Amino acid sequence: MSYQVSSVAMVTGASSGIGAALARRLATEGRDLVLVGRRADRLRTAVPGAAEPELLAVDLAVPDGVAAVADRLAAAERPVDLLIHAAGLTTALPFGVAALDDELAQLQVNVVATTQLLHAAMTAMQARGGGQIVVVGSTAAHWSSGSYAASKAWLEVLAGALADRTPTTDVQVLVVRPGFTRTDLHERAGIDNSGVPGWMWLAADRVAAETLSALRAGRRSWTPTRRYRALVAATAPLPRHRRSAVLRRLAPLRPR
Ligand SMILES: NC(=O)c1ccc[n+]([C@@H]2O[C@H](COP(=O)([O-])OP(=O)(O)OC[C@H]3O[C@@H](n4cnc5c(N)ncnc54)[C@H](OP(=O)(O)O)[C@@H]3O)[C@@H](O)[C@H]2O)c1
Repeated sequence: MSYQVSSVAMVTGASSGIGAALARRLATEGRDLVLVGRRADRLRTAVPGAAEPELLAVDLAVPDGVAAVADRLAAAERPVDLLIHAAGLTTALPFGVAALDDELAQLQVNVVATTQLLHAAMTAMQARGGGQIVVVGSTAAHWSSGSYAASKAWLEVLAGALADRTPTTDVQVLVVRPGFTRTDLHERAGIDNSGVPGWMWLAADRVAAETLSALRAGRRSWTPTRRYRALVAATAPLPRHRRSAVLRRLAPLRPR
């Protein structure tokens, strides 16, 4: 499958962080963009190089918001042939301590909205004879415990199953697993990440660049940077609770 640079790409989570960095890179390649996020003001300014992007300022935690994005993915006019699904959030507190409403909001965006958007994209792209889907997972799926890690593990398993079907559907599916990336994610969740050492921090633009390279290379999963690939490989033989213990020692996170 060849990577086209002249068609429409939708980026969810485009108002900040990794999604915004991906959208900026796609804009420099001349892609027409559909940008999704709640903060309309940030969507308008996040991708300065984009030529009149379509903006969908919606909340993916509510049914109408997800339906609006799914409808755009299904639309035959100016069809979206690349979906980058970066929208996501995390809770700050452990399961059982975090409020149930916070757990359900995380589940709604990271899992339920993801289900609906991947379903809409797969259905439309298969009918059109092809397309590309990138989902932003996390190394948390590999070495963290808790509901955020569980939501990212769920996403990774589903994306892997869709990637298995690429030869018959012509829809390329890539799951990207960034490590700690300097974005608004932790601040907005109320997490003190000052214990994460400097060498573990990635720039969102580096994650974006590696994501698009992995897409062009036809990969089905990618962990940006050699240092994170080495860490994942080194801890892979350990059971999950030991991997989590290693991560907690390396990079302690605390609620603020
Ligand atoms: N930062 C890290 O260390 C890291 C590591 C691994 C994976 N990730 C993953 O990377 C992805 C992007 O996160 P980020 O780090 O770039 O954080 P971020 O700067 O907080 O970006 C999150 C994006 O998701 C959107 N979003 C969140 N809740 C939403 C909702 N209810 N409806 C619509 N959009 C919503 C936000 O837009 P609005 O607020 O405008 O709605 C924002 O654009 C997430 O899936 C995250 O899990 C991050």
